[in-house]
Amino acid sequence: MKIKSLNLVNFKKFLKTYRSTVKLAWQTNKKYFFFITIVGAIEGLLVYPELLITKNITDNIIRGISTSDYLEPLKTIFFLTAITIIINQIQQLITDFADVYSNTLSGLMKETININLSRKINSLPVSQAENPEVRNTFQKVQEASGNAVWAITTPLSTFPTIFFGLVSSSVLIFSFNFLVMIPAILFALPRINFGIKRTNAWRAIRNKYSPVWRVWGALDDFANKGRYLYENKILNHVDLLLNRRLKLTIQYFKETEKHRLKFSKLQRLYSAPLILFENGTKLYLFYLAMTKIMSLGTAQATNSSITRFINYVSRLIRETSDLYQNFTFINDYENFTNLTNEESSGAIVSSKIDKGLVFKNVWFKYQSATDWNIKNISFYISPTENTAIVGENGAGKTTLIKLICRFYKPQKGQIILDGKDIYDYDLASYRRSISALFQDFAQYPFSAKDNIHFGDVSKKLKMKDIKMAAKHTDMHNFIEKLPQKYNNPLDKEFAHGIEPSKGQWQRIALSRTLYKDSHIIILDEPTSNVDPESEEKIFDSVMKLDKDKMIFLVSHRFSTVRKADKILVIENGQLIEEGDHKKLMKNKSRYFDLFNLQAQSYK
Ligand SMILES: Nc1ncnc2c1ncn2[C@@H]1O[C@H](COP(=O)(O)OP(=O)(O)O)[C@@H](O)[C@H]1O
Ligand SMILES: [Mg+2]
Repeated sequence: MKIKSLNLVNFKKFLKTYRSTVKLAWQTNKKYFFFITIVGAIEGLLVYPELLITKNITDNIIRGISTSDYLEPLKTIFFLTAITIIINQIQQLITDFADVYSNTLSGLMKETININLSRKINSLPVSQAENPEVRNTFQKVQEASGNAVWAITTPLSTFPTIFFGLVSSSVLIFSFNFLVMIPAILFALPRINFGIKRTNAWRAIRNKYSPVWRVWGALDDFANKGRYLYENKILNHVDLLLNRRLKLTIQYFKETEKHRLKFSKLQRLYSAPLILFENGTKLYLFYLAMTKIMSLGTAQATNSSITRFINYVSRLIRETSDLYQNFTFINDYENFTNLTNEESSGAIVSSKIDKGLVFKNVWFKYQSATDWNIKNISFYISPTENTAIVGENGAGKTTLIKLICRFYKPQKGQIILDGKDIYDYDLASYRRSISALFQDFAQYPFSAKDNIHFGDVSKKLKMKDIKMAAKHTDMHNFIEKLPQKYNNPLDKEFAHGIEPSKGQWQRIALSRTLYKDSHIIILDEPTSNVDPESEEKIFDSVMKLDKDKMIFLVSHRFSTVRKADKILVIENGQLIEEGDHKKLMKNKSRYFDLFNLQAQSYK
């Protein structure tokens, strides 16, 4: 019954894992992979001469004892010892080399795996990349990669060793009695079952802990990242964070400890038959030597062969079960990297948009939301219109923008650009036609130049363009005054680094957005931290610069909003008012109220 778990499916899984492992190693570095495999094979092959030498040395000792002429056997022993030393030294050297290469190979493999993972998570559709289940898998595979890579590279050398070791040790067993191999294999079988049991238990623990490690990671971040330093000091809650973290770690180790102890005991139990068999044959062989049915050397070498054979069978089982344990990792890894990218081909967006953008009865709801987040929104924006989007927190302004960016797809209705559904365009081309600055934009701890150049890495880097983008947001003079100018890191944790203020960061991010020369420009509260005077200056400059572009601006500042060609007022996912400032003021409705509310506070 128990042997049932050793079915073909597992063998198939094993083969799949081995194949994928070899493929990964091969992709990472062919030369190292080859060397490691060969050395493994040599190690296995050398077992045979070693056994022969052992046999001959013993027989020559016996000969020396039983005859008066001990010189001849002594010479042979001397010669055999010399050969043993040479073989051992060479073997040691190539094994050490293989270890060094294994080390490099596994390090590089880990990097290859992690780069593939990072690339993947960034290529998935947003809805998928944000999905908690996908995130769990991502984290699980990422975390496992560290341990798994070691376990993955080991079989590369051990399987050849085991294979040739089995062949080498079989030779002597065959000349003794090949039937011995059958019980040797049979008695080893319970261990397979044991291995599979252990693997399954590990997998259960890993699955259980992958969401826990994500919490751990967040606690770790808050306690360690420089940007939380101030808040940590004022709130004085680092101990609370660290204690929570420690509690999770302890909980994990307690559980794995229990599991390890249990399996250590089980392992003894499952190994017992094999140990009895091994010692039984040993006694029998010595009986044969004492009754002069075989020489002591042959008995010893045969015993050694059987021990090694059993060891290799056990190793084979252990490594197979380890590799099988990696099956989970390889399987998760391959399933994850095989997830479908969000690429889609289709029409190319023309560099000059001439029919504008239409929202046609668009409805949208986030996966976890209970109510619609965008409700039946329709509007038209001409190709050169500047549009301001206003509304309270959580009204749906950012969501609207995410729909335009094709991060999420409306469940009902259509968004049409230049007469075509935006989903009919080639995705890469569509994204190129949009430049966007999000509320939670990135603050790269690299140079000022990088921070702007990242706006469009497909464009050839010209300092003139970068400076121009910085001038539009009034940041050029600031950057020029830094110790290393445009090469200055914008992070105080790096040498010569400085820490831009929130408002300065926003202006740098805005420069990055403007550096990308797209027809559609989307700015989600880009200047919420910029003083009103600078904001007006920046916007006058942006609007003048981009007269023939389609600009979307989410802002709470009516001094800027009022200048837009069109204003969309969003409330609770609905478009409740639409028009220019003059028209909306005349309406004396929601916009009028909001505007007056802000105007009053300035009086
Ligand atoms: N990924 C998400 N999953 C579920 N709900 C979301 C998600 N993102 C935003 N929401 C919710 O959608 C509503 C609109 O959010 P948003 O568009 O960001 O508002 P804002 O107008 O302030 O930009 C809010 O109630 C917000 O909580
Ligand atoms: Mg928002």
